[in-house]
Amino acid sequence: MSDPIDISLSRRGFLAAAAGGLIASAADPAAADPAPPAAATRPVAVASANGLASVARAFELMRDGTDPLDAAVAGVAIVEDDPNDHSVGFGGLPNEDGVVELDASVMHGPTHKAGAVAALRNIRNPSKVARLVMQRTDHVLLVGEGALRFAKAHGFKEEELLTDEARRMWLRWKERLSEDDDWLPPEDSGGGPRTRAKGRQDHVYGTINCCAVDAAGNIGGVTTTSGLAYKIPGRVGDSPIIGAGLYVDNAVGAAGSTGRGEANLQNCSSFLVVELMRAGKSPQDACLEVLRRVADHAEPRLRDSKGRPTFGLSLYAVAKDGRYGSANIWSGTKFAVVDAAGARLEEAAFLYKKD
Ligand code: GLY
Repeated sequence: MSDPIDISLSRRGFLAAAAGGLIASAADPAAADPAPPAAATRPVAVASANGLASVARAFELMRDGTDPLDAAVAGVAIVEDDPNDHSVGFGGLPNEDGVVELDASVMHGPTHKAGAVAALRNIRNPSKVARLVMQRTDHVLLVGEGALRFAKAHGFKEEELLTDEARRMWLRWKERLSEDDDWLPPEDSGGGPRTRAKGRQDHVYGTINCCAVDAAGNIGGVTTTSGLAYKIPGRVGDSPIIGAGLYVDNAVGAAGSTGRGEANLQNCSSFLVVELMRAGKSPQDACLEVLRRVADHAEPRLRDSKGRPTFGLSLYAVAKDGRYGSANIWSGTKFAVVDAAGARLEEAAFLYKKD
């Protein structure tokens, strides 16, 4: 694991942070990591691994004085617009009926305001609609038809979000779903008409989260997704739920998530990461602690023979002072980060090494 900046606070770092109001609920400084404080810098942004271009864009914008939330939204819009990313926006994988339904949330540290949309159809940039919910309504979350009408009222254009490639992936899933329905895969697809019974193998949870801190220490965050592939229509994951898929507290930091949204909804993961940072944990340690909680709470049907969760879940966090970190339940995951050293992918910390 390489995480050159994200270390636990030293006694000196802890006291400095506490004096600066970063730590409201003080942990025992004597128990803190004795390693020297890292040279964290600002601006900084973290994102899921599909967000390398996003953090680079967010950094450029923040360096030029753009608000951190606007910078993060501009960053993730690159991925929402990308037909080759099947986890977000245009080209996202659809629900079980073949219809793309998008979820997104934003949170703005300086105002502590939030906005979100869920099960939004036909609009490729749900993060921008979520920002408008925050800016132009007295609400936090709009869903389905109401969210679409709100987007159209603000001039967003409806379009078909299901690309040919995503449709073919959905069709392949549907044709192999069951031995007992009338959908047949092509004869030349190998292994006869049906190659497997219904399973979860094709159920992928893609998403992009981006959390950004500007040079002044102001924070913004966004999470946007097409959600669980082939979900039941109307299913809403963690991404548009403040506290689950995203949380920002301008006095402390921000956290967001990708992966199995149901696990985040059951554990309020992003809120908890921020609260653990408030109590003195480093971003990476806060992410790991929450993942331990998620693993402890995993249902028996979602555990392997060693009792470990069978699903993946990543958490990303930034602290107000510029430290950052990420962790996944399983090894082998990267995350995107940008700071004065440039945009790069780093290895995330993990709970369990893949066998
Ligand atoms: N984390 C994305 C989802 O579960 O919808």
